[in-house]
Amino acid sequence: MINLPGRTTTSLNGLWEVIIDPFDAGKGSWIALYQDRKPESDSDFVEYGFDGGPRLHVPGDFNSQMPELAYYEGTLWYKRQFEYTPSDKRLFVHFGAINYRASIYLNGEFLGEHEGGFTPFQIELTDRVIKGENSLIVRANNERIRDGIPGLGFDWFNYGGITRDVDLVETPATYIKDYKIQLKRGDLGTIAGWVQLDGANLRQTIRLSIPEAGIDKTFRTDSKGRAEINLPAELALWSPENPKLYDVQIASATDSTREKIGFRTIEVEGKEILLNGQPIFLRGINIHEEIPQRKGRAFSEADAQMLLGWAKELNSNFVRLSHYPHNEHMVRLADELGLLVWSEVPVYQHIDFASPVIQRKMDLMIREMISRDKNRSSVIIWSAANETYPSPERNAAIARLSQLVRSLDSTRLVAQASNTFEYHDDRTEITDAAFEHFDLVAINQYFGWYRPWPEQPGVMKWVSDFDKPLIISEFGGEALLGSTAEPKHAAHSWSEEYHEDIHIQQVKMFDSMPELRGVVPWILVDFRSPTRMHPVHQQGWNRKGLLSDRGLKKKAWYIMRDYYDRVQKDWEAREHTP
Ligand code: GCU
Repeated sequence: MINLPGRTTTSLNGLWEVIIDPFDAGKGSWIALYQDRKPESDSDFVEYGFDGGPRLHVPGDFNSQMPELAYYEGTLWYKRQFEYTPSDKRLFVHFGAINYRASIYLNGEFLGEHEGGFTPFQIELTDRVIKGENSLIVRANNERIRDGIPGLGFDWFNYGGITRDVDLVETPATYIKDYKIQLKRGDLGTIAGWVQLDGANLRQTIRLSIPEAGIDKTFRTDSKGRAEINLPAELALWSPENPKLYDVQIASATDSTREKIGFRTIEVEGKEILLNGQPIFLRGINIHEEIPQRKGRAFSEADAQMLLGWAKELNSNFVRLSHYPHNEHMVRLADELGLLVWSEVPVYQHIDFASPVIQRKMDLMIREMISRDKNRSSVIIWSAANETYPSPERNAAIARLSQLVRSLDSTRLVAQASNTFEYHDDRTEITDAAFEHFDLVAINQYFGWYRPWPEQPGVMKWVSDFDKPLIISEFGGEALLGSTAEPKHAAHSWSEEYHEDIHIQQVKMFDSMPELRGVVPWILVDFRSPTRMHPVHQQGWNRKGLLSDRGLKKKAWYIMRDYYDRVQKDWEAREHTP
């Protein structure tokens, strides 16, 4: 996958003409809408047309842009024209993401398709583009499907369309297709990675330079255009306290690219999570990729600044980007802001693991997620699943996924989030055997909301047979901002007081868990979900946010922020205690 930052690109963002096609009729040969035909004579009969039709912003989900599309799940056709003069260069079109299935046409010709709403893909146009005006047509369909990832049911809004940036990218005939430049696992003094060329001239010398670190080295590619990188390096390490990024330049005889990269190691050792060899505690927050104020998918740098700005304000050092890879602005800004990132594929709850095509789709999403963000120092955890239910098919499938992740990237941690555990009186036992395949134990628990507190929070014991770090990857409850329903402190009063109480009790429990290495409240801000239908308290929103849908702080916000301030001090003191 081309790394855009170091490339000359032409953005195709802006207004695109669209046709709404609820019956998905346009792709059939009878209408063949992708041909974008114009009547050639008075008697010629064409029953569709983009010209003069509605136009939508790209990037942007279509649901929040037209009232008639508010809850739309179906096909929408997009058209964008661009001028081009072919040369000896290659041309690609790069999509940040299209939810959920996409078919791509150029000048009436089918070029390719993609399934998966949250990862990038690109298509080469070199041999198809013509001199002058070209017509790019995209069929986007966000219908939920049984063997989809996610499947038919999920607790977030199914925003559809071309939801992320679209770019034309020109490259030399033989170009630097991809590279990974990171520290070797567990080695603070060695850069390990590779550079992959694509094109006819595959045997070349690659020059890697990091001027600020005094690094300027060359490597040879093999017959397949791949150069293995391995060199000693003295680097300032990236961390939340010091999010140091270096300007990394890669050049070959025919091409060059560059980007900002941070260098750090992340490992587990027994029950500890080690960042640059030092134990850390993850002060986390879950985030959906949504801007509540505009009831739409987040996609821009400004959106990322708002969401991650809130996370910093909470004094988080860790964000779980749930439950799918968020746009690239999020992870690049996390690099700059010093926020550790959990990135996940939407293998979520009810997945049809028995379906033969599912494995292929999950593998592709994992590959695309890792390919895009493998050079992000902020990303420390790849997550293969959330709350999938133990079964032989499921266990086998996610075991395979964890192996796939390890084979693609040995420098990061692999995880899943699970809500499979049992509790008897004051003992909570972690019973999901699948954790054997992962580097840490991440538990979603909703004591005080979906489950009553079995015992006084402060005396609860978490029992795990896994000699692995334990984090609480989700917890919380719901409250509409300002709701003070009586009896305030009763479960399900939906009151802010009860919501605050849940967090007070959770913190009490956390304080009694010496082996805990991270907590991640569900969730930063209220978010839309069609499954939340309480007429007063929800109105189509999941109200578990620490912030309201206007970004206003609920009482529970202060509980978590104060807890994080305290935990941060405790851990800093720990670091300095011999
Ligand atoms: C689950 C799930 C979330 C969901 C949350 C909730 O644990 O992982 O996606 O939104 O609980 O019920 O609010």
